[in-house]
Amino acid sequence: MAKRAAKSDETAMPVANSELRRKQSPPAEERFAQELAFLKAADTSIRPDGWFLSPQAIVTFVCGSRGETLRLPKGCEDKSLPDSLVITEKFVGERSLVERCVVTLAGERGLLLVVEPGTAKSMLSELLATGVSGTSALTIQGTAGTTEEHLRYSWNYAFLLAQGPGDAALVPSPMMTGMKNGQVVRIEEVTRCLPEVQDALISQMSERRLMIPELQGDSGSIFARPGFNVIATANLRDKGVSEMSAALKRRFNFEVIAPIAEHHREVDLVRLQATALLHESNVQTPVDEGLLDILVTAFRDLRVGRTVEGWNVEKPGSVMSTAEAVAIAASIGRQAAYFPSQKDPLSLIPCLLLGAVLKDDAQDRARLLAYWDSTVKRRAENSRNWQRLLELRQELMQ
Ligand SMILES: Nc1ncnc2c1ncn2[C@@H]1O[C@H](COP(=O)(O)OP(=O)(O)OP(=O)(O)O)[C@@H](O)[C@H]1O
Ligand SMILES: [Mg+2]
Repeated sequence: MAKRAAKSDETAMPVANSELRRKQSPPAEERFAQELAFLKAADTSIRPDGWFLSPQAIVTFVCGSRGETLRLPKGCEDKSLPDSLVITEKFVGERSLVERCVVTLAGERGLLLVVEPGTAKSMLSELLATGVSGTSALTIQGTAGTTEEHLRYSWNYAFLLAQGPGDAALVPSPMMTGMKNGQVVRIEEVTRCLPEVQDALISQMSERRLMIPELQGDSGSIFARPGFNVIATANLRDKGVSEMSAALKRRFNFEVIAPIAEHHREVDLVRLQATALLHESNVQTPVDEGLLDILVTAFRDLRVGRTVEGWNVEKPGSVMSTAEAVAIAASIGRQAAYFPSQKDPLSLIPCLLLGAVLKDDAQDRARLLAYWDSTVKRRAENSRNWQRLLELRQELMQ
């Protein structure tokens, strides 16, 4: 018996402890723990009650310190912090939009981020919740299966049967915890929730309290403390299971996030995020610059329906999001590193681009071919990379 156990240990995949503890996608409060602690220590601006950082510090946290080195004020006790730090840009977009979001969160209405898929609404809501409350953990994922309990509370039936209704048996929802602690609650894809779930949200957001009829006295109502608010997200494309009611819409200030406006900022972002993803896959080789430029340019042409040269492009039905460009860049980087002798990385672009384009509408393949026959062909006259891409047209037929 002992022998068999030893044998199975030998065949088990060796995994280091640190490897087991590593998370694939740690929350913002863990990824940026040092920046948050630094900003908190350096924060001297006015801060609404219950907030972790001041509105100004939150905007700096989300949009970065624009390359400026921030310094800790004299007399700061915390020796674990560096004396100075440059805060990284996380959300690429208008600073004024982030300011408006922060101002909304300090008021009595919730914040609704509306956007095309893959345009960083979840990321922005996570960063804002972290800045306001120090945590992004209070999250409800809106789906057709989301029930009122996800917004209110439920019961641990073992405790309920043993002890009757009471605090021990109560299982709070993120909403209840947010109200109790005065923290921001995130509701992802709110339009996918059924109407009755959205209705429950209306009363919670206007009354700012949650009743527990089963409990007597003070325990029977939770009043929201300062700092509580809601950030919801919704897709422009996918209206979800049911559209929001007018009453619920009135409880939110809407902010529409546009795709990244400048070409070079999108290239920088795709490079940065693809490199980070590649590091996670133990790939240290950077993504080729020429390839990055072609990828982002093609995504932007197809997203906007017009090239920088002013040529018209027939837009496919799919979104062509920055998030997908990041995924493709990382995928090319991995393929090149894991199978270096196989293919020239540029030759992977047509198939991956086709994968991004061809989602719902079979006609989108024809649209991509038309893009090849017009824009790619015209650019091929002056650029070797676009010339190579033109020669790979047959890859789109597979
Ligand atoms: N303006 C932007 N700033 C920073 N990252 C961006 C931006 N636009 C897109 N991204 C990229 O998009 C990725 C995913 O964003 P996120 O998941 O927040 O999108 P989403 O809008 O919630 O998408 P979905 O609709 O699929 O849920 C980010 O990690 C980043 O790579
Ligand atoms: Mg999302």
